[in-house]
Order: sequence, then C-alpha cells, then structure tokens
Amino acid sequence: MEQHRNRLSELREMALQGGGEKRIEAQHAKGKLTARERLNLLLDPDSFEELGMLVKHRSTNFGLDKQQFLGDGVVTGYGRVNGRLVYVFSQDFTVLGGSLAESHAKKICRVMDLAMKNGAPLIGLNDSGGARIQEGVVSLGGYADIFYRNVRASGVIPQLSAILGPCAGGAVYSPALTDFIFMAEGTSYMFVTGPNVVKTVTHEEVTSEELGGAKTHASKSGVTHFTAANEALVIQHLKKVLNFLPQNCEEDPEALVYAPGDEQRPILDAIVPDSSQQPYDMREVVNQVCDQGTFTEVQKDYAENIVCGFARLAGKSIGIVANQPAFLAGVLDNNASTKAARFVRTCDAFNVPLLVFEDVPGFLPGTDQEWNGIITNGAKLLFAFSEATVPRITVITRKAYGGAYDVMNSQHIGADLVYAWPTAEIAVMGAKGAAEIIFKREIAASEDPEAIWKEKEAEYAELFAHPYNAAARGYVDEVILPHNTRAKLIRAFGMLQNKVDALPRKKHGNLPL
Ligand code: HXC
Repeated sequence: MEQHRNRLSELREMALQGGGEKRIEAQHAKGKLTARERLNLLLDPDSFEELGMLVKHRSTNFGLDKQQFLGDGVVTGYGRVNGRLVYVFSQDFTVLGGSLAESHAKKICRVMDLAMKNGAPLIGLNDSGGARIQEGVVSLGGYADIFYRNVRASGVIPQLSAILGPCAGGAVYSPALTDFIFMAEGTSYMFVTGPNVVKTVTHEEVTSEELGGAKTHASKSGVTHFTAANEALVIQHLKKVLNFLPQNCEEDPEALVYAPGDEQRPILDAIVPDSSQQPYDMREVVNQVCDQGTFTEVQKDYAENIVCGFARLAGKSIGIVANQPAFLAGVLDNNASTKAARFVRTCDAFNVPLLVFEDVPGFLPGTDQEWNGIITNGAKLLFAFSEATVPRITVITRKAYGGAYDVMNSQHIGADLVYAWPTAEIAVMGAKGAAEIIFKREIAASEDPEAIWKEKEAEYAELFAHPYNAAARGYVDEVILPHNTRAKLIRAFGMLQNKVDALPRKKHGNLPL
C-alpha cells in the first residue's frame, strides 16, 4: 500500500504544479493568480472536490507528446460558495497558455453535465489562448461541445464567467453564451481575433487593451457586465452577484432576514426637480427604495441612459430596470433597449421579480438610431417585458411619453401593478412638441408665434402633464407619495409572491434578434 500511496501522491504533486514554477512566477509577475489560487478565493474553505486531476492530452503533433501536464490546463470539480453547491472550471494559463484541447474540453463538459443534472450554478474562470493550435479540429470540436452545453444550460442553471487573462478566439464565445461576464482590469482581454490579425486584415493599429480590455468591453461593446480592479475583487463581486440568483430555474433566490421599520424614506420627496427639464440621478431613487447598500449595477458604464441591476427589497432579491434622466435625459436608444431586454430576460429566467422606475422622454430619433435598428432593438425590450412571468411592478417617477410608456413595463404588456408619483407626466409626447404639431397652423398664422406656441404648450401640459388621466383609466393603479414608495413596494411584492403565470404552449418565442 505504501508504494501505491507514494505513486498517487507523486502524481497529485505533479498535477498541483501546473506548468511549473517558472511559468507560475511569470503568471504572478503579470499580476495574475494561478488557477488553483483563484479557486481558493472563490470556494468555501475545504469545500473543493477536484475531478479529472490526472487527465492527459492524447496529441503527438509538434512534439506535444513530450509536453504532458496532468490535468491538461484546466482544474475542474465542485465546491461550495457561501454554503451553496457550485460546479467550477478554472483554466491554467501556465499549461500551454490555458489553450483548449480535446481532453481539456472534455473535463469542462463533464462538470457542465453534472451541473445540469444536479441543478447547480456553473462558474468558469477563464484564462486561455483559445483553441490548442497543435490539436487542430479536435480542439474546435471541443469548443463546440462546450458551446452546445452552454446553450442547453441557458435559463436552467446560472452560468457565470470570470475573464482573468487573455481570452482569444473560441475562448470568448463560451463566456458570451453565459449569463454574466466579469473582467479584471488591466490583465484580461477578450477578442475573437487579436491585434496582430486586426493589423493584417484591416490595417488598424490597436493594443490588446484598446481592442478588448475590461474598460473597452464595459463601455464600448457592453460585452462584460462587471469589471473590478483585480482578480480577487472580480471573484468577490461574482460571489455577490451569485447571491441574487437561485440554484436553478425551478427555485427562488434565497431571501435574507429582514427587520421591518425603515419603510418611510422622506428624502424621496425631494429628488425630482420642480422643472421637468432638469435631470436627477435615478440611482438615488433606487438606493432609497431598496435595502441600503444592496444595489449592484449591471453594465454600469454601458448605455448609461438605462440603469439595470440587482438589489434587495425587504431581504428579497429583485431586478431593477430604471431610466436614467441624468444621462441623455433617460431616452431609450438601441443600446439601452438591448441592455435592458437582456437583463429582463435574465431575471425572468431565474425567478427574480422586476421593479421598473420610469422617467423616459421617448425613443431617441435620428438616422443613427433608425439605421442601426431601433425598431428591432426597441422591440426586444417590448418582447422581454411582455413574456416575463415574474412579478413586475412599475413606478412612474416623471415622464412616461410615447411608445416608451408602453414599453417600460406598462400594465398593457403585463405589469402586475403600476404606481405613479404626483410628478408623473403620462402622454403621447412632451407639451412643447405636442403644441407644435397640433397647432402648427395657428402658430404659423399668428403675428406672435412664440406666444401662441407657449399658450398651447401650457394648455397641453395642463391637460396631460400629470398622472391623473392614466389613473382615471386605471392604467395607473395608485398615485403615491414618493416617501411611501418603499412601503408600498414591500407590500405589493409580498402580495405577488405566489403569482402564477405561464406563456401559451409553444416551442419558443421568436425574439426580434
Ligand atoms: C497552443 C498556446 C496557445 C494556443 C498560447 N499558447 N496560446 N499553445 N495553442 N492557442 C502557449 C504559448 O505557446 C506559450 O507556450 C504559452 O502558451 C504562453 O503564451 P505566450 O504567447 O508566451 O503568452 P502571452 O505573451 O501572455 O500571450 C498570450 C496570448 C498569445 C495573447 C494568448 O499566446 C496568443 O496570441 N495566442 C494565440 C491566440 C490564438 O490565436 N488562439 C487561437 C484562436 S482560434 P510556452 O511553452 O512558451 O509557455 C480559436 C478557434 C475557435 O480559438 C473558434 C471557435 C468559435
């Protein structure tokens, strides 16, 4: 037995070394952690059970047979995060650049299959140079095996991807198919083709950071949902986001204990400015209404005219979608529509109720918007809200104009409740534009067009710049004072706790992509 024990511990020791001391040093010198150090940060102490530690690749091309590393560049298994079961894979850049080979892919697929069968989240820590070039088509096949499973698992179990190094080629598509991407600033990159290929094909000179760094994907492409200053903070943030999600689509997110008594928030009465042209920060409203310190924004620096994120209300997980009057007046455009639509669908898939704060002047006009598909993109948000079966509540804080009134979770598309503050303005358009269209002739014929325009604008505002027409129709369930919003919402979501709603039987809807 002694001999067997020694053999086994020798092999385990070899596997633990990954690509060897030198490469580990190089990894650390870049400000990066090793695959195992990352898992130590992610998982509860002593909870990790490794699977496939002794797996080897089978390739002999280009001398690969002489480059054997136990585990083949990825550490896989299961463990616990805050006591909850999760399945994990963590790519090891010190082994052939974390490149994905046949065996490497099989290990990932194995934990994906287990995660699906056992209804628990999958967390991928990605650090990979893409398909293992020496292996050819088998590594492409390996990627496709993973993509297929990502898609099959989508909406069944939460899938979270941390990007902790250069992820190139196929290495970016698996994360893109998961629910959330987290990137480390300065040390992680995502691109389908790197700067060298870009230079050859398009003659553009671009650095890795500019092409696919965390800041680029957070603000320009919207590919990443979260960024953090370093790997440890990325992992900490990932754990925070996981807390808002259930184990799988059949379960509800875990609720935290809530001590009632802080429902009134007088500060809310002073947030909306007297002039409806003045901006204010909708995040202040969100922070006041939700449990303090719980709001966790998604895609914070992308399409800032809409604010999306998770929060807790009386201890329960909710998804927030809110127009942001402090950025482009909170207008709906292509990016804001797709950002919000995606978030609504994620919440709906995982039984996270939706709370909408509405202050929207309408859809953004212009050739840029039209030619880039605002019709299709706006329809995505309409589609996402309309098909969501989770409890959904809207609070109209100020403007609810035009098509955007319909789209932003109106009663007509299935909101369970709609509240309005007394400052709400619910109409086809703002008074100024409305007066210009309706009284075009009178204005043109007048000796003092400005004066008549102003007069008609005031008339229209008097008739429509308030919530009472909508309330008279029952489109608004109640006009509430801002300071009371939190109390109303806690009761209302409690009332909707056992909501049962289902879509008509179908294969699947046809989201306007
Ligand atoms: C095999 C690879 C590799 C790969 C890196 N390595 N990428 N081995 N296949 N794809 C190896 C290197 O040879 C090196 O081995 C070690 O990993 C570290 O790589 P370095 O280049 O020294 O590191 P660094 O300077 O940090 O650069 C990292 C990198 C670069 C940006 C990822 O290595 C790179 O550009 N790699 C190729 C990226 C790529 O084109 N991948 C294929 C994409 S096609 P040693 O022995 O020296 O330590 C693809 C198709 C799938 O993925 C499509 C599905 C849709």
